[in-house]
Amino acid sequence: MQIEIPVIAIDGPSASGKGTVAALVAARLGWNYLDSGSLYRIVALAASRGGVALDAETELAALAQRLPARFRQGQVLLDGDDVTDAIRSEACSAGASRVAALEGVRTALLELQRAYRQVPGLVAEGRDMGSVVFPDAALKVFLTASVESRAQRRYKQLIEKGLPVTLDDLLQDLRERDARDAGRAVAPLQQCADALLLDTTAMTIDQAVGRIVMWAGERFAV
Ligand code: C5P
Repeated sequence: MQIEIPVIAIDGPSASGKGTVAALVAARLGWNYLDSGSLYRIVALAASRGGVALDAETELAALAQRLPARFRQGQVLLDGDDVTDAIRSEACSAGASRVAALEGVRTALLELQRAYRQVPGLVAEGRDMGSVVFPDAALKVFLTASVESRAQRRYKQLIEKGLPVTLDDLLQDLRERDARDAGRAVAPLQQCADALLLDTTAMTIDQAVGRIVMWAGERFAV
């Protein structure tokens, strides 16, 4: 008999806090964690380092297929080089959303993402976790917040890191990325019919984590 490994799929727009929330849910449950956006970010970074254009679908898909990336204790390594911070830059965010619109790249990353489904369970976050990668996930959450509060949160993070950003630029960038992620032909960002909506505009991280852990308790023996 094959054991069904449970999955919690958390999808939502950029800067909604789903990365932080998903990682904390995984830690609370003792489950594995997949940050699928980091894979698209790594492809974008590897492309720019290797001189591959961000619309060269065949070359990008080949790059994604043999991505020399590793994850180690919260660090992301590309060809052995620590790129944890580099993949979070605004340039990489924009690049990721461009390469993510290409079907060849998405297909190349599919098996890699599914390989994260290991016992005792997986918390996976991204844009298409519930719709494409893990359609059989027993708990699907669509985690969102207003674009203004998402821009505010991102602004605070970047200013704390000493990066020169303006709120207006971040707002515009988020709106553009939302439109690109939701409007693309392949795997657009969408709330699945069977996903529970979690609007965190007026919630703390702890409250959001607590809500998902509660839903998990209702569905799984955790
Ligand atoms: O989640 P994060 O902001 O790190 O994702 C970076 C980009 O990767 C997103 O803007 C989105 O275009 C893309 N992405 C995706 N599907 C996923 C995760 C991320 O298309 N499952």
